[in-house]
Amino acid sequence: MSSDEILETCSADNDSALAACVKNLGLGQIERHVFMCADQTVPLCCSKETSLASWEYLKRRLKELKLDRPTETRPSCIFRTKANCLRICAAGPIMVVYPDGVWYRNVTPEAIERIIQEHLIGNRIVEEYAFLSHPLPAPEIISPETKDVETGVFD
Ligand code: FES
Repeated sequence: MSSDEILETCSADNDSALAACVKNLGLGQIERHVFMCADQTVPLCCSKETSLASWEYLKRRLKELKLDRPTETRPSCIFRTKANCLRICAAGPIMVVYPDGVWYRNVTPEAIERIIQEHLIGNRIVEEYAFLSHPLPAPEIISPETKDVETGVFD
C-alpha cells in the first residue's frame, strides 16, 4: 500500500495507529471540514454519477492545491468527508462547510472551483450557490486532563 493510500483512509486498530492517523491526516490542524452528499444509496438530490463527478473533482482539486493536508507554508488543512445523504435531497449535489456552517446547492465542478477559491481560500461565501449560513455555536466542552497540551491528543 502506498503512503498516499495509507493517508487516504487510516485503518487504525491500536493506539499507536490512531496517533499515526491523527498525525498523517492532519486532524489536529483541520481548518475547515467539508461534507458532500455523494454516492448516495438513494440518489434524490441528483444522480449518483453527478454526485461522484463532483466528489472526485473536490478530492482532486484539494490535493492539487495542497489544501488537503498541512504543509510548511500552510500549517492547516481542509478535511473532506463523503456523506451518503445530507438530508436536503433537492438541488444537489449538496455541500456544507464547517465550522462556517455554509450550505451549498448544485455543487457542480464549476461551483466547487469557485467555493474552493472564494470560500476555502478567500474566506468569502459564494452567494450564488449558498442557501444557508449558520455557523455552529462554540461548544462548552470539558476536556479530560489526560489530553496532551501540545497535540490535543488523548492518552
Ligand atoms: S440525496 Fe443528496 S442530500 Fe439527500
